[in-house]
Amino acid sequence: QIVDRLFNASQAEVKLAEKLEIDRTIIVAGDSDLQGRVYDLAGEELNSALNLLLPLSDCIVTVMGGKTIAKVAKKLTPSLSENRKIKFVPGRGALGGRVNTESNAIVQEMARATGGSYESLFLPEQVPKDAYRSLLHDPEISEVLQDISRSDVVIHGIGLADEMARRRGYDPLALAKLRENKAVTECFGCFFDDEGHVVERIRQVGLQFETLTNVPHIIAVAMGARKAEAIQAYMRNAPHQTWLITDEAASNLILNGK
Ligand code: F6P
Repeated sequence: QIVDRLFNASQAEVKLAEKLEIDRTIIVAGDSDLQGRVYDLAGEELNSALNLLLPLSDCIVTVMGGKTIAKVAKKLTPSLSENRKIKFVPGRGALGGRVNTESNAIVQEMARATGGSYESLFLPEQVPKDAYRSLLHDPEISEVLQDISRSDVVIHGIGLADEMARRRGYDPLALAKLRENKAVTECFGCFFDDEGHVVERIRQVGLQFETLTNVPHIIAVAMGARKAEAIQAYMRNAPHQTWLITDEAASNLILNGK
């Protein structure tokens, strides 16, 4: 049943994947800006997608943070671990403050929900220049970084540039600069304009946007009408092996402008 659903993409899903130039899109009903249950539907689709894409062996899933991924994580099931051993790895250090939406917390939730294991990356999200190099040589950190580089699947959210900058404590001057650079979205610590160009980045230890191309499967989860522009902007330069799980509200806006 799962396989049927994922192999039989709807017309809208095919069109959206073509427009965004990525391998697959999965569209769930509704608008997550208005209906909380849309996250549950997206979480179920994430579970099915992982079941299809993950190898039947030891495997590594690297997970980024954010509210969306924290919500869909709750819908993963032990069925994922029936024929494989999954290790969930955080894609970056902590943001500070919003503990439940940090990747360190989300990997714990995913491991609990599926019966898998997890690793932790105890680090500030933004790292001063001189500390960066020495951190990369720390044995515990470099072990996590090695696992990240061996990921079978990466799961990430797509954020609104302004919102993500505020969440990271940007002051009014830095926010103004970001707007001047026309940043519309943020993923993996990179701010992108509506052409998909990186206009600014945060120095962080963990998964880097540029190395994503080496990952066999990438699953982006981003939904709601308010995210339509951000999704479109990020997807301009996203690796083709990306799958997008989204909702009708975002998809209709991207496909028809309404
Ligand atoms: O902070 C991690 C992150 O994946 C960002 O790269 C992304 O912009 C954001 O989360 C999405 O967060 P949310 O789902 O809360 O909009």
